[in-house]
Amino acid sequence: MSFDVDALLREAKVIVCCGSGGVGKTTTAAALAVRAAEQGRRTVVLTIDPARRLAQAMGLTELDNTPRRVQGIEGDLDAMMLDMKRTFDEIVVAHSGPDRADAILANPFYQSLSSSFAGTQEYMAMEKLGQLVAEDRWDLVVVDTPPTRSALDFLDAPQRLGTFLDGRLIKILLAPARAGGRAYLKVVNAGLSAVTRTVTKIIGAQLLTDLQQFVASLETMFGGFRARADETYAMLKAPGTAFVVVASPEPAALREASYFADRLSAESMPLAGLVVNRVHTPELDGLGAATATSAAERLEQAGGSEVTAALLRLHAERVAVAERESTLVDRFARSHPSTGVRRVPAMSTDVHDLEGLRQVGAALAG
Ligand SMILES: Nc1ncnc2c1ncn2[C@@H]1O[C@H](COP(=O)(O)OP(=O)(O)O)[C@@H](O)[C@H]1O
Ligand SMILES: [Mg+2]
Repeated sequence: MSFDVDALLREAKVIVCCGSGGVGKTTTAAALAVRAAEQGRRTVVLTIDPARRLAQAMGLTELDNTPRRVQGIEGDLDAMMLDMKRTFDEIVVAHSGPDRADAILANPFYQSLSSSFAGTQEYMAMEKLGQLVAEDRWDLVVVDTPPTRSALDFLDAPQRLGTFLDGRLIKILLAPARAGGRAYLKVVNAGLSAVTRTVTKIIGAQLLTDLQQFVASLETMFGGFRARADETYAMLKAPGTAFVVVASPEPAALREASYFADRLSAESMPLAGLVVNRVHTPELDGLGAATATSAAERLEQAGGSEVTAALLRLHAERVAVAERESTLVDRFARSHPSTGVRRVPAMSTDVHDLEGLRQVGAALAG
């Protein structure tokens, strides 16, 4: 089944581009957004990790965590690059009041959690997506997802962050802070908290206090986190939201795409289609690999042009690659008969300007 990208761009309110790392998610998200804007929809694209030249072409030179107008587009396109840390800070401020917020933001544990905890980036991408949708300034929000190994990480992150905050270690560390300083000492002396004592030995009393304060204040925001993650999850299921899965024409990426497609259907989340990016297409259509190889052999035996023979062999290789890719994509299509598939050719250079994005957009539309 082919994937009607222009229909999607006319109808969707939110498009989430997923896929494993390096397959072209950011490029696809940007290309979809440019095309939608040039077809008259007020569009914003949230990119996560654009290559530097692409970011420059879209005017994303300032990391200020808010959408900026993209110049050179015939239509309304805003773009932003996710600043994960700043998004986290904004949530803390919004949920904890200005005085407590300062203490949390300065806490070393907060600083390491907010910039390095696995899953934070995915969570913050969802959070930002929720904010953009809530602003109600755009007809369409296109969102890129973080460069994780697995596409599923994006869906699992809020849950994982929640599990971490719910975790046992956190609860144990938190218990003394809840009971108050005095009681805490008593507890330690009574030997009731071997874990806390060990942690104190390892990380020092001051750090432990920091950690306890941090966790105690997180707890107040906790309900907030959970509720927001749930809301965002609901938004991903709402009518108007569509997922586009991007894969390269390689076994691992297509396997990942296949897991993702199954997971979406299990969660009743709408999969708009699969984009197979960077497929190889031989220049000379109709000249098969076997024919080209035997022609090269004959030419070599006859002492003919070496250059021509080399070109024929190169062509044969390209045809073989294209056939392999095509077999893989067909296999995906057979196992997911209701998923539309669109192939985007490998361009001769990286996609780093608006013109390149328009070309990818045209290929996406077919
Ligand atoms: N169809 C394509 N043809 C040529 N280069 C491409 C194509 N799609 C993506 N690229 C290039 O591949 C690199 C990775 O793409 P990117 O969109 O950043 O991947 P991801 O976001 O999935 O990690 C970029 O340099 C981009 O310009
Ligand atoms: Mg990317």
